[in-house]
Amino acid sequence: MGLIRIRTLQPIDAEPLLKFELENRQWFERHIDARSATFYSLEGVTEHIASYLAGLDKRTWHPLVIEDSQGNIVGRANLKDINISERSAEIGYRIAESACGQGLATLAVRRLIQEARSHWNLTRLVANVYAGNIGSARVLQRCGFSIKHVIRQQEVERNYQFVLSIDDSSLYKSAMSDLPCPA
Ligand SMILES: CC(C)(COP(=O)(O)OP(=O)(O)OC[C@H]1O[C@@H](n2cnc3c(N)ncnc32)[C@H](O)[C@@H]1OP(=O)(O)O)[C@@H](O)C(=O)NCCC(=O)NCCS
Repeated sequence: MGLIRIRTLQPIDAEPLLKFELENRQWFERHIDARSATFYSLEGVTEHIASYLAGLDKRTWHPLVIEDSQGNIVGRANLKDINISERSAEIGYRIAESACGQGLATLAVRRLIQEARSHWNLTRLVANVYAGNIGSARVLQRCGFSIKHVIRQQEVERNYQFVLSIDDSSLYKSAMSDLPCPA
């Protein structure tokens, strides 16, 4: 895949971001909640970027994009709902179907952990994953997260909430190492 760059989302990303989201819409909708239909236009994506960058200004959101060596957007990763006083945030990420299985989500989650710690001074990250999303669960476990809650509906497992304490030096070390997934 060549050189990968992870950087903060910018207003000029509207066109390539729309392309990325349109090309992967069905793939994402198999694993995560669907976006509204109005999102899928240049206007919709421009508004989406503006609202995420407003979140960055308010210190509640840190949106990143992942670019391949040709400068194409192949993934996204966000720190969401940053709470400076509680020193916590949620993370979210999505990788183009064609770029999956090459370690990009793992790279992106490690970058989010690094940003959370060094830029935002956070100590706790959470991630919510649908129970069938084995690839995502694997990424989180490899990065040191562990399951905190299992949400069941009618006895069926629906969601997992994963948590990482980045105060815990051993977990942080494991998140940053190249050790295989412990699970
Ligand atoms: C989940 C997702 C982010 C993973 O991205 P990725 O770049 O392929 O992740 P990585 O390559 O870093 O690691 C994925 C791991 O899961 C494994 N995996 C993926 N699907 C799997 C499955 N169905 N069963 C078992 N393992 C699976 C891969 O083999 C890989 O493990 P390995 O490196 O030990 O072989 C990507 O599939 C995606 O964007 N999905 C749609 C959106 C989404 O689900 N986002 C996460 C919301 S919580």
